[in-house]
Amino acid sequence: MSRLLVSLLTAAVASVVSAAGPPPGPASGPADILFHNGSIYTVTESNRKVSALAVKDGYIQWLGGGNSCALGRFIGSKTKVVDLQGQMMMPGLVDAHMHVLEGGKFLLTCNLNYQTLSKEEVLAHVQGCLDSDGLGPDDWMEVVNMDFPGVVSKSGLVTKLDLDQGLSTTRPVFLRSSDYHTIWANSRALEMSDITADSPNPANGVIERMPGSNEPSGLLQDDARSLIAIPPPTLEQDIENAKAALKLLREEGITTFQDAVAFEGHNEVYGAIKAEGGLSARIYCDYMIDSPSSLAEVKPIVDATVAKIKAMNDPAPISPKPTIKWQAIKGFVDGVITFPALTAAMVDDYLVPRPNDNGTNADPYWPPAILAKTLEELFLAGIDAQLHTDGDMAVKVALDAAAAFKAKYPSKKDFRLGLAHDEVTLQSDWGRFAKLGVDAIMSFQWAQLSSFYVPDTFNALGEYRHDKLQCHPQIEAAGRPVVYGSDWPIDPLDEFLALKVGVTRSGDPLNPNSPAFQDPVYDGPFPSRAEGGLTREQAIKAITINAAKFLRADDKIGSLARGKIADMIILERNFFEVPDEELGRNRVLVTVVGGEVVYVADDAGDFLRLPDGGLQAKFPNHAGVAARSTIGGFAGKGLDLEEKMKVKKLRHRGACAHKH
Ligand SMILES: *[C@@H]1O[C@H](CO)[C@@H](O)[C@H](O)[C@H]1NC(C)=O
Ligand SMILES: *[C@@H]1O[C@H](CO)[C@@H](O)[C@H](O)[C@H]1NC(C)=O
Repeated sequence: MSRLLVSLLTAAVASVVSAAGPPPGPASGPADILFHNGSIYTVTESNRKVSALAVKDGYIQWLGGGNSCALGRFIGSKTKVVDLQGQMMMPGLVDAHMHVLEGGKFLLTCNLNYQTLSKEEVLAHVQGCLDSDGLGPDDWMEVVNMDFPGVVSKSGLVTKLDLDQGLSTTRPVFLRSSDYHTIWANSRALEMSDITADSPNPANGVIERMPGSNEPSGLLQDDARSLIAIPPPTLEQDIENAKAALKLLREEGITTFQDAVAFEGHNEVYGAIKAEGGLSARIYCDYMIDSPSSLAEVKPIVDATVAKIKAMNDPAPISPKPTIKWQAIKGFVDGVITFPALTAAMVDDYLVPRPNDNGTNADPYWPPAILAKTLEELFLAGIDAQLHTDGDMAVKVALDAAAAFKAKYPSKKDFRLGLAHDEVTLQSDWGRFAKLGVDAIMSFQWAQLSSFYVPDTFNALGEYRHDKLQCHPQIEAAGRPVVYGSDWPIDPLDEFLALKVGVTRSGDPLNPNSPAFQDPVYDGPFPSRAEGGLTREQAIKAITINAAKFLRADDKIGSLARGKIADMIILERNFFEVPDEELGRNRVLVTVVGGEVVYVADDAGDFLRLPDGGLQAKFPNHAGVAARSTIGGFAGKGLDLEEKMKVKKLRHRGACAHKH
């Protein structure tokens, strides 16, 4: 028994005599784990801070200010007593917008890791992947996380010819932009996908053509991406991908996430992992639907969708063991504002021509009347909705649909409508989120300078719209606390960098995941809001309790209170005590889900000095799935800072860091 335990037990005897013991918790008796001597941020209404928290049977049994007298009653012979040594503890992170299966796949594939590269650098890396993955002459090579605007700004518009001539291979090769809206394919990939001069553009997508002809150029925008005929991953591969993703989520402290584009296959994959006890986060899946093509089609499509969602949903209230909930749909109302895609629906035209287009603003993918009718039917059936709305027109159309529903059914207030991204918003819409009870689900990382804006997207929008970009502080100030969603793997998964950007509206030149690290051009304030961003409290709420509210789970998770599920993380540094510029250089040391320790950083012991071997994590840090590391890319997450600096130097010399 540790000396600490002895002293606490001795103190406990004293506390029996003193009248001022803690009130009894939901479950009495000794705790499973008692954390004490910490800086525990509860995210309750009063932003209460406590120093001790007791966990029993997966729930928070008690929390409070703890001199050792108050704590002794929670300590039994099996209780793990953890001295937090002043470290910050907070609720586990709730990320309301992720693509976890894809993210996991990206961890295990040829990955350009969001780096801003020239065409030549991209080709060199892809060649490295081709030369090292051991596959055959007809096997697909999929390359992910390409900074496509970066390629275009460094090397100009590219076509299939650049890949055909620049790569030594017969294989079908295609690269996905990290914003997920553009594919760049070689001739073999187009041929194997049967994309020819005669192929029409699909609905909501563009097959770009060579200048002056109908021949495909190799660039596929939005829904044209699905024409690429690569076979889908097998169930086994998807399970491996999901496990790799869950490992990263544990390291990031994400204890609940919303998978923002999900299908039946997701249920199968997550279900298989759940069956073997491998889930380390609570999952909320949004069932992806396309716009019905007519008003008459709305009702039958909604009925079929509701039936599917209800069949997959685990109806039990959430409890310590993670489950898979289905309670919302996902729809794409438009594309993205980023150049050269320019597919987001805008009230005013873009100021530069869209490729293969006559220069007008893009129309929403969902006709407004059909969107309104679909949401109405869904809400009446008790199903929630998350919509991708990137441009100001898309946001406006979605808010109009919510307004129509409220006007028609004033007593039905309990719907959830989340508008994801909202990259450009009309000032006249900021207050409508609060008025209509609609959530803005924002990806804070997008409020830092990057190749996604500088210079082409900024030019395409025009300076008069720069202060309408990434307006989460304005929406919050107008009365609706915003919800956070990372959109990983669209951006690197770095939640504390995102929170930093949410607060300061600038990147971090010392964080390798930030564009400011890659190029001093991006090290500066985002143009749209000189006054700054969210407060630290607001940013933390966005990624905990506000996101939990959107998921209808705030009675169980999202803050630390007696009787809530014990989902917590311990941080390396206190988010409320570091200077602004260091907010994004934080790390999760311990992740607890439902009272079970699922992750302990290798060096957490140095900070926590845990006695008796300390906390054992359920999942190992080094065995298993993620051992097959990223080929070719920079494997950002797996590297320590020193290695990242080496990679940076390599990149500047134009060399590669391939793992053979
Ligand atoms: C509590 O933590 C501080 C560090 O913040 C440490 O100096 C102190 O020894 C700890 N107290 C106990 C009782 O463990
Ligand atoms: C441009 O395209 C839009 C729709 O795609 C069409 O309505 C409009 O008439 C076109 N304008 C010109 C000048 O061709």
